[in-house]
Amino acid sequence: MKDQLLELEKRGNDEIGAINDPSDLEPFRIKYLGKKGALTSLMKSLGKLSREERPEAGKLANQIKVNLSRRFQEVKTSIEAGKSRGVASVDVTLPGRAPLYGHLHPITTVIKEVCLIFSRMGFRVVKGPNVELDYYNFEALNLPKDHPARDMQDTFYISENVVLRTHTSPIQVRVMETQQPPVSVIAPGKVYRRDSDVSHTPMFHQVEGLLVDRDVSFGELKGTLTRFIHQMFGSDTALRFRPSFFPFTEPSAEVDIRCVMCGGKGCRTCSHTGWLEILGSGMVDPEVYGFVDYDPEVYSGFAFGMGIERIAMLKYGIDDIQLFFKNDMRFLNQF
Ligand code: DAH
Repeated sequence: MKDQLLELEKRGNDEIGAINDPSDLEPFRIKYLGKKGALTSLMKSLGKLSREERPEAGKLANQIKVNLSRRFQEVKTSIEAGKSRGVASVDVTLPGRAPLYGHLHPITTVIKEVCLIFSRMGFRVVKGPNVELDYYNFEALNLPKDHPARDMQDTFYISENVVLRTHTSPIQVRVMETQQPPVSVIAPGKVYRRDSDVSHTPMFHQVEGLLVDRDVSFGELKGTLTRFIHQMFGSDTALRFRPSFFPFTEPSAEVDIRCVMCGGKGCRTCSHTGWLEILGSGMVDPEVYGFVDYDPEVYSGFAFGMGIERIAMLKYGIDDIQLFFKNDMRFLNQF
């Protein structure tokens, strides 16, 4: 009897181990564990055994029933899980999922566009350090130690003589220090100021321009910037040069374009003036040439600087500068 039981257990285990198809499960259950199954009929014949043999054989039979039932449940569960994972239901004829492609950040796109327009006019793209000496950021740009533009409110000081550059203008000085005229460069980069609201972030981007040669006039400054604005905002964009002041240019001018939001009628974006300021510029101040060994009797030139976020906001109609730096895909996916 014992041998018969063990033999049955072995056969049952082999058989259940070979099942892959869910439709084979029920026949197996009926064959081994059902009311008329092999194990049940063996158990029924326990009564024919002698009293001494009966308890041991009964215990074994019960144990085998428990074991086979458990194996059966395990196999059933794993076959059903495989099915719900869709293993059997993959439609291999469907096209695959397209990978997600990234794209350039709108600020990068605008920087590239600005640089492209100027490089077509012969300007070379250069870079400078973000952590800058006070000397390049202020001193050599004719902003002496007591100048109000050096206010601690605006500048991140690393140490007494080292700052995070507050504008890209120091690159002008670095270029002139290493190269005699003619020079014509464009310098994009990050700049830093202690400021944060809907139109300010502590880090933002500027593009600086510088051109120095013999006989460069204010007319060339106007022509170059007019051409830039017409390429950037469209050839029918009205613009004006407004007298201004910067310590490193003389004379200085700020450039306004006709408001892109209201077309000049006056709105919130242009503070009801009809104009939007987009860059600062001027003829390089002879004081600056003194710091870089250029002869102001021989050379003249112009410089300009613009905020990239501001240009991007006007170009795309964005009213909150912080959006550029939040990495919110709902915003970025629109570009
Ligand atoms: N650096 C100035 C700023 O951050 C902008 C500027 C004005 C740059 C006039 C120039 C310039 O090169 O000529 O506000």
